[in-house]
Amino acid sequence: MSSANQVLIAIIGAGGVGKCFLSQLQTLASRRPTPKLSICYISTSKKALFNNDYSPIPTETAVDELAASTKVPFALPNIVDYLAAAPSKVILVDNTSSQDVADAYPSFLSRGISIVTPNKKAFSGSYKLWQEIFAAAADSGAKVYHESSVGAGLPVISTLKDLVDTGDEVTKIEGVFSGTMSFLFNSFAPLEGSGGQWSAEVKKAKELGYTEPDPRDDLNGLDVARKLTILARLAGLPVESPTSFPVQSLIPKELESVSSGDEFLQRLPEFDSQMEETKAAAGNQGKVVRFVGSIDVATKAVKVGLEMFDRSHPIAALKGSDNIISFYTKRYGSNPLIVQGAGAGGDVTAMGVTSDLLKVISQISK
Ligand SMILES: NC(=O)c1ccc[n+]([C@@H]2O[C@H](COP(=O)([O-])OP(=O)(O)OC[C@H]3O[C@@H](n4cnc5c(N)ncnc54)[C@H](OP(=O)(O)O)[C@@H]3O)[C@@H](O)[C@H]2O)c1
Repeated sequence: MSSANQVLIAIIGAGGVGKCFLSQLQTLASRRPTPKLSICYISTSKKALFNNDYSPIPTETAVDELAASTKVPFALPNIVDYLAAAPSKVILVDNTSSQDVADAYPSFLSRGISIVTPNKKAFSGSYKLWQEIFAAAADSGAKVYHESSVGAGLPVISTLKDLVDTGDEVTKIEGVFSGTMSFLFNSFAPLEGSGGQWSAEVKKAKELGYTEPDPRDDLNGLDVARKLTILARLAGLPVESPTSFPVQSLIPKELESVSSGDEFLQRLPEFDSQMEETKAAAGNQGKVVRFVGSIDVATKAVKVGLEMFDRSHPIAALKGSDNIISFYTKRYGSNPLIVQGAGAGGDVTAMGVTSDLLKVISQISK
């Protein structure tokens, strides 16, 4: 097969999102026969599957073959070398949350390997890494897309890029960026009824699988801060890192260092009165409390934490674990452009990855 009619795909990470991506890739490959999409490398942190001559790994059996494989993954510099020597153009799909893989993006990109990923780490780490990534892509012509790094498959990054690229002036971005925080506050301080005790809602969220294994990893606000860092940078603010602006943690000081998530949940009821006071203070003003992130572009103020909203505000009316992101711009005036919907889940996150893949294919396979 001529190399122009084939695009090779290397996949690092085959967990929740990775498996959904593989299933979407199978559908895509059958719908769009040209260029032929062939997997040439797939790995988890412990196993890998590849052929020295780059012959394709069948998409439909990749997960099972990977599980049965006795090959171990290449070290990252060797993956770069292997992919750079491939006979066709290559797209790397990083479905991990690994900082090490993210740190290697400039090496992949500078060797002409395009990247699509839901991994936030590369774009919300140091500003130096951000600059190196986009400089490497500009130099080599390789592409890098990361729609699912904010709001999963929701068109958040593409919308912001379109606003900026077409010359609109983005003045403010505000929203609920975490499915976990959305679920917690929609049930702790709902528009209808009085809601539950804070600690009971956190426990319920964990039981339903909405939180990380240790809920403190959601309650510290860092995940939201990472997403804000990405959007602020795309809006033109050179934010140094996700810890370079105010981020309110909902972990009581006394529970920051308890040894396990279980112990944290056990002791959390001791601090329910603090959250009850916050809920009551909002209620007394006819408002509800929500955990939001905001970027004020003019004043360069980025912050993450609790805010009160009128009951008629779209952020107050959010349901379930949905995300909502409002873009205030010169063109849209006082009624923001709003993107809303599921901001987590394997299928919707993989959709963002697959649609990024399509964009890259259309740009590199001319
Ligand atoms: N799930 C969602 O709803 C969602 C939403 C938005 C964004 N995301 C992002 O999507 C990415 C994947 O999420 P997920 O839920 O699929 O995670 P996951 O289920 O934990 O899967 C992660 C996969 O990456 C592999 N991996 C981790 N470090 C690796 C390394 N250094 N080298 C090779 N493979 C490595 C893991 O292999 P092992 O099993 O061997 O460790 C596993 O196969 C993350 O960046 C996450 O933040 C997820």
